[in-house]
Amino acid sequence: MNPFERIKAKVRTELVDKIPRKWKKIGEVLIVDFDLVPNKDKNIIAETYASELKVKTVIQKNKVSGELRKPKHTELLFGTDTVTKISEYGLTYNIDLSEIMWSPGNTGWRSALAGPDKVSDFYSFGNPKIIIDYFAGIGYFALQMAKGYPESKIIAIDKNPKSIEYLKINAKENNIDNIEIINDDCRNIKLKADVIHLGYIGNTIDFLEHAHSCLNKEGTIIFHEVYRNNWLGFKSRSEWGIIPKKFSQLMEEKGFNVEKFDRVKFYGPSKSHIISSLKKN
Ligand SMILES: C[S@@+](CC[C@H](N)C(=O)[O-])C[C@H]1O[C@@H](n2cnc3c(N)ncnc32)[C@H](O)[C@@H]1O
Repeated sequence: MNPFERIKAKVRTELVDKIPRKWKKIGEVLIVDFDLVPNKDKNIIAETYASELKVKTVIQKNKVSGELRKPKHTELLFGTDTVTKISEYGLTYNIDLSEIMWSPGNTGWRSALAGPDKVSDFYSFGNPKIIIDYFAGIGYFALQMAKGYPESKIIAIDKNPKSIEYLKINAKENNIDNIEIINDDCRNIKLKADVIHLGYIGNTIDFLEHAHSCLNKEGTIIFHEVYRNNWLGFKSRSEWGIIPKKFSQLMEEKGFNVEKFDRVKFYGPSKSHIISSLKKN
C-alpha cells in the first residue's frame, strides 16, 4: 500500500473524499490542505498523516504574502515544532516553516555547482572575487555558491531578520566562512560584485537598475522571475532552448544582453518560473 492508501484505511469512510492525496513534506514538517476536512476531525486526521508520513508537525497549507514572502498566519494541525532541517546537495539548512517560505519545486536549481549539469552551467562564473545574493533567505543559494567558490567572498543580503537568524546558523553549521551576512534592503547596499544573484520572483525587474549599477563591467546577473507562457511565446517544449525575443528586448532596455535562459518549473497552468544569465550590454 502506498502512504495515501494507508492513511485512507485509517479514516472514516465519509471523510475519504475530503482528505488530500498530495502534501509537501519538508524535513520533519508536513504541509497539507485540510480545507475540506470538517474542523472537528482535523486534528485526529492530522495525527494519522503524521504517523504514516513520519513527521513531527503538520501545518495547514498557507499563502505566502508581502515583500518578504512570509507565510500568513500558521495553523498547526498536529505537533508544535515548526523548525526543521532540510538537506540539499551536501548542505543542511535549518528553517522555521511558520516564518519562512520554502519552495520544494526549486530543489535542483538551488544546487549551484553541486547538482545537474544544466544548473552548474548557469552557475559557472570563472573566478569571481565577489558574489552578492540580494535575496539570500536562509542561504539556499548563497551557501551553495560559497561552497562552490571557496576562493570567492559571498555577500548574502536579506531584509527579513528571521531569515538572517537562520542564515547565520546555517553558515556556521555547514562550516562556511567565506560569507558576509547583511540584514538590510538590498537596494541600500552599494557594494560592487562580479556576480549578483536575484533569486526572487514577482517584481525582480525592479531590482535590476540597482544591480546594474553594482555589477562590475564583465560581471554576470542571475535573474529569476515568473512570466506568462503566452508572453514568452513558447508553444511547445522544444522551443524552451530559445531565448524569447520579448525577454531579450526587455533586458536590452535595462542595459543587459541575455546569455542563457531556461525554465525552472511550471508555475500554475499558464506561467513559468524562468532563470536567465545576463551581462551588461
Ligand atoms: C521568495 S524568497 C526566496 C525563495 C527561494 N528562491 C527558494 O528557492 O525557496 C525571497 C527572499 O527575499 C527577501 N527580500 C524581499 N525583498 C527584499 C529586499 N528588498 N532586500 C533584501 N531581501 C529581500 C525575503 O525576505 C525572502 O527571504
